[in-house]
Amino acid sequence: MTKVSFEQIKGFVFDLDGVITDTSLYHTKAWHQLADKLDVTWSKELEDGLKGISRMDSLEMILKAGHKENDYTYDEKVALATEKNTNYVNEISKMTPENILPGIKAFLDDLRANGYQIALASASKNGPTVLKNLELTDYFPKIVDPASLSKGKPDPEIYTKGAELLGLAPETCIGVEDAAAGIEAINAANEVSVGIGDATLLKDADVRFDNTAEMTLANIKKAMA
Ligand code: BG6
Ligand code: MG
Repeated sequence: MTKVSFEQIKGFVFDLDGVITDTSLYHTKAWHQLADKLDVTWSKELEDGLKGISRMDSLEMILKAGHKENDYTYDEKVALATEKNTNYVNEISKMTPENILPGIKAFLDDLRANGYQIALASASKNGPTVLKNLELTDYFPKIVDPASLSKGKPDPEIYTKGAELLGLAPETCIGVEDAAAGIEAINAANEVSVGIGDATLLKDADVRFDNTAEMTLANIKKAMA
């Protein structure tokens, strides 16, 4: 049983990368490429830890993993993050609605049809471009601006702002995430957390599904009972 009942839920606050679409693969590819260039050993642990983390914080995490956090000036770090973003933007420019993860479109239609409010809480400054390429912009009238945040995930700020944008109390919102940092943020915002992916990684999620196709209103209701 979750902290609130399914019937109390009025809105959904979504992460984007790894939930709506598989852009997490492109982020990973672009960071891995930069890590190789900087001679930082890549690992699954680093890969998982980067999920949900802002661009500059991700770079810091990579440099720290290679004990190189003091090797670059701020301007050099900005140039490295920009290089990663250029590679990432090139990947997302090729995206189409075919890149929407299984079941997501049907789920969003179901949410709309049942009167749930929907917001986006992505740390990505490329979020609106990705939504546009997926032709999903209309589903997300409320988007938290990641540039407005003072702290990134796992801080609850982005999810708290998501609920605020919807005019809803946090406990009446469900947050959906594929990253451990994101689940932590949702829980700290006092929303119900739905995790998509690995059970060990997402052990703190209130509700968890292996993949997006399993995320339906009926399955969420069942899991919250
Ligand atoms: C998150 C991703 O959604 O956005 C991270 O999970 C990414 O991997 C972060 O670093 C910031 O994205 P961007 O597009 O602003 O560099
Ligand atoms: Mg994500």
